[in-house]
Amino acid sequence: MAQSSVTEMPAKKSSETKGTPGPETRMNSTMYKTRIALTDEQKAKTVAVMQERLAGALDTYSQAKFAHWNVKGDNFYQLHLCFDRVAKHIFKHVDQIAERITQLGGVANGTVRQAAHTSTVPEFNTMLVAGMDYVNCLADSVGSYCASLREASAKIDEIGDEPSSDFFKQLDVEAEEELYFLESHLQAGDIQ
Ligand SMILES: [Fe+2]
Repeated sequence: MAQSSVTEMPAKKSSETKGTPGPETRMNSTMYKTRIALTDEQKAKTVAVMQERLAGALDTYSQAKFAHWNVKGDNFYQLHLCFDRVAKHIFKHVDQIAERITQLGGVANGTVRQAAHTSTVPEFNTMLVAGMDYVNCLADSVGSYCASLREASAKIDEIGDEPSSDFFKQLDVEAEEELYFLESHLQAGDIQ
């Protein structure tokens, strides 16, 4: 038997709801029975930690795509390619995290509107123009996403789900490689 519950978002004025997370955006916290050797409580706690990272991956992916499409300036072409590389690698995490959630019996709350509500990644500045401003802004978001993966690994380790903790360690190593591709544009003369 599945435990079913739905968390409603706070209501917004009708003028604010078009295209934004609103009263119709719900988080499904249903947990299905699985044979995975964890208690129901361990599975539910681990899934809750993972939902925030699923939202963060979707948010970071869309920000990298925004940068890929809209960057201008002398370094346009190499940055256009670099941002697409970041988007491609972070997008892989979306599916991996979503399916780890469902493996543990949860429902992957991964629509764009759910992600917009849940993500803790900083808001992207959509009014930027110049290349290095895009690099800086995206590095802030990817850095935040990386920190959230490290935190997820530590939290899940405390819950007692070692395989899921290791899963997030691996995602963190991959995301930190993307952070390196961005930060290498910024580090000339910037020694610790
Ligand atoms: Fe493209």
